[in-house]
Amino acid sequence: MNYSENIHPVFDQILKREDKEKLLGQKSRVIWCTGLSGAGKTTLAKNLEKALHNKGNLAQVLDGDNIRSGINNNLGFTEADRHENIRRIAEVSKLLIESGVITINSFISPTNIIRQMAMDIVGEENFIEIYVNAPLEVCEARDTKGLYKKAREGKIKNFTGIDSPFEVPVDPDLVIDTYQYSIEECLDMAMEYILPKIQL
Ligand code: ADX
Repeated sequence: MNYSENIHPVFDQILKREDKEKLLGQKSRVIWCTGLSGAGKTTLAKNLEKALHNKGNLAQVLDGDNIRSGINNNLGFTEADRHENIRRIAEVSKLLIESGVITINSFISPTNIIRQMAMDIVGEENFIEIYVNAPLEVCEARDTKGLYKKAREGKIKNFTGIDSPFEVPVDPDLVIDTYQYSIEECLDMAMEYILPKIQL
């Protein structure tokens, strides 16, 4: 059911996003990390949050495993559920950037359509897409959570990269090859790209 005709959102508050950004001394952006499970998205996101914090920036990590145990705990891994997962996250991110906060999003977000939807919701001008890249063989060898093994044994269905697709991003803002560089080097590359974009 569509209730939209009876909903009257208030977008004309006295305080604007710019006022919040000024208060925080930053431009709010959504830094969207996409990639396979085990590619290093969450590691990069956590390190980015800390590095930005140390520079006086307010940033918040939004992470697949956390969000899926809370606001999205009714969703699984069918295409439709992944779509809904990302739609909600993008809407939450939009609320946060309206408050001047930088969000660092760590979600597999496996398809071009899903990532395009996220960008459309957030607004292209607010969206920084980072492809956190490691080949499937590397992610599978790392198997940080033991999930690839379970997926190969058929104990998990629709696992990204095994029996559910991952489409390589077509035109990301930045590619971080986590299989070639150290954690620190990856962080430095990301910071170098991001800092000028969030400068007021
Ligand atoms: S997304 O595809 O909808 O973007 P999301 O990033 O939120 O996925 O969640 C992925 C995390 O859920 C993985 O890092 C992994 O820990 C866990 N997971 C459990 N089942 C699956 C599955 N079938 N496919 C991918 N990830 C899964």
